[in-house]
Amino acid sequence: MAEQSASPSGDPVHASESEETRKKWDAAAANFDVMAGYGPEKRWEPFKRELFSAMNGGRILFLAIGTGLDIPFWPSGQTITGIDISPKMLEAAKARADAYDGELELVVADVHDLDFPDDHFDQIFTSCTFCSVPRPVDGLRSLLRVLKPGGELKMFEHTGSRFFPFSMMMNLMTPLSRRFGPEMNRRTVDNVRAAGFEIEKVDPVYLDVVKRIHARKPAAG
Ligand SMILES: C[S@@+](CC[C@H](N)C(=O)[O-])C[C@H]1O[C@@H](n2cnc3c(N)ncnc32)[C@H](O)[C@@H]1O
Repeated sequence: MAEQSASPSGDPVHASESEETRKKWDAAAANFDVMAGYGPEKRWEPFKRELFSAMNGGRILFLAIGTGLDIPFWPSGQTITGIDISPKMLEAAKARADAYDGELELVVADVHDLDFPDDHFDQIFTSCTFCSVPRPVDGLRSLLRVLKPGGELKMFEHTGSRFFPFSMMMNLMTPLSRRFGPEMNRRTVDNVRAAGFEIEKVDPVYLDVVKRIHARKPAAG
């Protein structure tokens, strides 16, 4: 498993924030499949499979691999770099990664500080990630940098809701949920736009909470 430097930018506040995030998800790794693997994954599988079927044979970045629950939903024969900030999550993903019928490299990396060259990937996929990334707009700008002009960003994400009482419940739950895992009230579609992507389609999966976001890096020139 390759590893990128935790904070190439050298900012100590961001380095300690990354360390906190890494510790939190390392701690969650042992029980993650029990929490996420049997209920939610079964429920979202058809929606994820359909999203991932857009993988088109180019150079693909997948953020964040977690324990690899998404790997069986990928089409075979792709060339994928799978990243996650948590080494323990990636260790737990190893068996699923080894079983993937394609090229898959696992890299420990923080999305805020990616070491990949500019315009490197043809497509980027995310799965239940931007509920967890501490600085979502910065993380998305980092994805924008490594994606080729005109390249696709395809996301399966849960976000906050615009509707009462869900909005209130999610705001109340977030201070607790963020201590152990994700935030429940993120405005991910707005964040994607704020980072500089063009939104092509937002495809609701469950209410206005679980959704697929289809976005693109503006073409050069
Ligand atoms: C809710 S889990 C989702 C895992 C997997 N995508 C799934 O759906 O089963 C969130 C994942 O995001 C990763 N993560 C959180 N912050 C990150 C960051 N800054 N850079 C890279 N990965 C991060 C965590 O380690 C964790 O594996």
